[in-house]
Amino acid sequence: MQSLIIGSDHAGYLLKEAIKPLLSELDYTIEDAGPHDEESVDYPDFGNHVSRMVAGGKFDRGILICGTGIGMSMVANRYPEIRAALCNDLFSAIMSRRHNDANILVMGGRVIGIELAKEIVRAWATTPFEGGRHADRIEKFSKCQRSDQKTE
Ligand code: RB5
Repeated sequence: MQSLIIGSDHAGYLLKEAIKPLLSELDYTIEDAGPHDEESVDYPDFGNHVSRMVAGGKFDRGILICGTGIGMSMVANRYPEIRAALCNDLFSAIMSRRHNDANILVMGGRVIGIELAKEIVRAWATTPFEGGRHADRIEKFSKCQRSDQKTE
């Protein structure tokens, strides 16, 4: 059984609550990193926590939801171990697994409806990584470093 940690901000709270039962159905053990109501919060606080947990290996995967998904994906992709994919459509969700081995799914709670989000989650949770040339490309991510450092 794979483990998954899910977090949002206030703008993603309702979608987070709506998809939690589906994740259990899909055989994930889940931890809800919050928030636990719709009170206004800062998305980097929750994005950092979820990303840190996945980057550190405490969870296999993560899901982050804010209003657009943009802020959360910006935060999550600052961690070198994280491959966060902002997917507000089904095709992106499938390809983010097949080609990018995305370990965090990000969605916009103000962009998509609950039923589409459930299909996205289902596809993302069940689509395997193809490896091969896509793995070689992901290896090259390690060349991303501070702009004041020399690349070889
Ligand atoms: C909150 O109002 C909103 O800015 C946030 O949920 C997110 O969309 C940021 O990218």
